Amino acid sequence: MAGFLAKGIPMKSYNVAVIGGDGTGPEVVREAIKVLDVASKKFDIKLNYTNYDFGGDRYLRTKEVLPESAVSELRKFPVVLLGAIGHPDVKPGILEKGILLRLRFEMEQYINLRPVKLYDERFCPLKGKGPNDIDFVVIRENNEGLYTGSGGFVFKGTPNEIAVQESINTRRGVERCLRYAFELARKRHGGKPWKGLKPEDVKDGKKAQLTLCGKTNVLTYAFDLWERAFHETGQKEYPDIKRDYAHVDATTMWFVKNPEWFDVIVTDNLFGDIITDLGAMIQGGMGIAAGGNINPEGTSMFEPIGGSAPKYTGKNVINPLAAICAGGLMLDFLGETKAAQAIENAVIKTVREKLKSLAAGKMGYGTNEVGDLVAAAV
Ligand code: IPM
Ligand code: MN
Repeated sequence: MAGFLAKGIPMKSYNVAVIGGDGTGPEVVREAIKVLDVASKKFDIKLNYTNYDFGGDRYLRTKEVLPESAVSELRKFPVVLLGAIGHPDVKPGILEKGILLRLRFEMEQYINLRPVKLYDERFCPLKGKGPNDIDFVVIRENNEGLYTGSGGFVFKGTPNEIAVQESINTRRGVERCLRYAFELARKRHGGKPWKGLKPEDVKDGKKAQLTLCGKTNVLTYAFDLWERAFHETGQKEYPDIKRDYAHVDATTMWFVKNPEWFDVIVTDNLFGDIITDLGAMIQGGMGIAAGGNINPEGTSMFEPIGGSAPKYTGKNVINPLAAICAGGLMLDFLGETKAAQAIENAVIKTVREKLKSLAAGKMGYGTNEVGDLVAAAV
């Protein structure tokens, strides 16, 4: 039923599919919803949640990774909030491929957006780096590369066996990812062009810049395509964005040495997977790192990137901030930028003023108390 504001204006309402998933997933999603509910009340929006029990327990019970209808049902939602996938009693790969990757692929969530932002100097493992130095976004291509499952075995199980795993890079897939990244670089700097920028237009001393992270010196087919598409699209459509290139190995070095050089980074699926774990560490750890699997025209899915942490399950020690931040990214995707900003500000306040650490069991508060603190700050 549609709600109404006092003024008689219908409330904005969004349907949210919730997959708590495995391990600590349900615990952190509970806290994210607690915070989302406070933010939606404050900003006059309504979130209608529908729960799905996909994950390891359901698989062990039913022997079915995802029910037949799952994808078509989830497609009816604008957004999905996901806790974690990965169960200690299920062979690695089954749930990850059968649930997480399948949803990313079948819902064409071709962008994996992972902000890397340090909220408090105390939680950065890098000496002398603070919040002004670590504030960039990684755009990871999320539907292609080495993740498509293309390849196979020949002579499997014999001494002559061959395993081939192919990286798929389509011009269409690469271009749509690049465009998203260029647009984001533009948006982060309020649409201000790179050329002729005045110092006062420069955010935190940085200019709108997109770095392509690749391996053009070795992967001379895949990243040749990426590099050509990058410069052609950039030159034609985004001359206002400075284009920069870094090899993936060098990128990991710069993350540690000069993270302040980065603004927006775009890369393929596997490199994006790897560099965002390092990104999570320099922003304070898995407890705070969130991401969005985005289909700009369809259903997008938001998640803490840290996994199901089985050893912490049910102990009320896991950090829910990554899931709470994922909720913020979800609101931002829905166009509720003020509510999203309010959540981020509340997270920043909680991190700076309350928490002893961002690591599980060391925060100085329980999982639910951290949720309460952020909710109160909103
Ligand atoms: C991630 C994870 C997944 C990935 C795994 C669980 C399949 O590491 O979201 O980064 O590799 O994409
Ligand atoms: Mn990963």
